[in-house]
Amino acid sequence: MAVDALKCKECGKKYPLEALFVCSECFGPLEVVYDYSGLDVEEAKRTIQSGPQSIWRYSEFLPFTERPKSRLATGLSPLIHAPRLGEYLGGLKNVYVKNEASNPTHSFKDRVVSVAMAKAQELGYEVIACASTGNLANAVAAHAAAAGLDSYVFIPTDLEEQKILATGVYGTELVGVKGNYDDVNRLCTELSAEYDWAFVNINMRPYYSEGSKTLAYEAMEQLGWKLPDRIVSPIASGSLFTKLYKGFNEWIDLAIVEGKTPVFHGAQATGCNPVANAFDEGVDFCKPVKPDTIAKSLAIGNPADGPYALDVARGTGGTIEQVTDDEIRYGIKLLAHTTGVFTETAGGVTVASLKKIAERGEIDPDETVVVYVTGEGLKTLDAARGTFEKYEIEPTVDAFNEFVPTPVTA
Ligand SMILES: Cc1ncc(COP(=O)(O)O)c(C=O)c1O
Ligand SMILES: [Zn+2]
Repeated sequence: MAVDALKCKECGKKYPLEALFVCSECFGPLEVVYDYSGLDVEEAKRTIQSGPQSIWRYSEFLPFTERPKSRLATGLSPLIHAPRLGEYLGGLKNVYVKNEASNPTHSFKDRVVSVAMAKAQELGYEVIACASTGNLANAVAAHAAAAGLDSYVFIPTDLEEQKILATGVYGTELVGVKGNYDDVNRLCTELSAEYDWAFVNINMRPYYSEGSKTLAYEAMEQLGWKLPDRIVSPIASGSLFTKLYKGFNEWIDLAIVEGKTPVFHGAQATGCNPVANAFDEGVDFCKPVKPDTIAKSLAIGNPADGPYALDVARGTGGTIEQVTDDEIRYGIKLLAHTTGVFTETAGGVTVASLKKIAERGEIDPDETVVVYVTGEGLKTLDAARGTFEKYEIEPTVDAFNEFVPTPVTA
């Protein structure tokens, strides 16, 4: 296995693979680095293909010395060719939807939690915790239950009821904090100094974020060991977006795939747009905002990886889009109508952003575009309320004929 050390993203100082997340020299964030010298590409591909039907097939590229096991198999979500969506967007032939609803708790957060928890267990932690905008709460509670570990989940009190119910059901200690996500995160950062717990997205953050790389690996493997030309991904803290970039580039550098880094488009809600604003203003820092959007899973006003996300968008010739709540609702409906996939609000942000990019004429019809739909629509049902008609009729054929329109057939 190739994992080497933790390394400061700013000054380059190296640290051992422990529960560390900031550089003691310059306060920069730490990330996992690998030594891939001596990796045999064909052998690596064979190991992946004969590996488990989960993210652990990529464990050569994850921060472990042995392949971890977990009781809830995460990953290998479908990559769905979406010709009807592509047609609607002006004749794009190769739009693919990576549908993360198939994970154990129905979002991509199962990936980051699987990696962070496996590392926490390796380091001997007995309590798992997190600060969450909703999906992470579901995943931490479920994976801790499966592993038989205690867990504490901290959320803003005003989350969607579906996300609260789908967390509490696993028997976690669920703590609603009167404030927004940024308040919850600040509290948890303080608690992590007091309690010897593994906070998956605080002291385990360098490992947690590596889990998102598997969304790049999987897309390439499912495209037949090929790179997409362009990707669209939601941004909250910016971790997913920057680690997708790391994942694609690792395989390019190792010649596991051939070609150039895809164009990266980030997607935010206008009601929580710190990264998109910075992109538009041409600055390289993100001014914090107070979130107010139906896309609660993306409601991080002070994004830790915002500046790195800006670098990725600019460096690949991409953009960071922002879409209104109405556009998000329309994005959800558009995806459902054209692909049969029901996404939560985050996916609505992504699809509405793709629509904007396509309408500007930036996408060639033959390009391969991967759209990351990171969570499940049943968790944010309010966003679908009032977006369609429902007929109520007496149980008679006459009533049906009178009130319900019949489809037009050729
Ligand atoms: C469904 C969904 N998509 C995307 C994200 C973005 O995550 P990140 O903080 O890595 O930018 C989140 C974060 O909570 C999420 O819940
Ligand atoms: Zn440093």
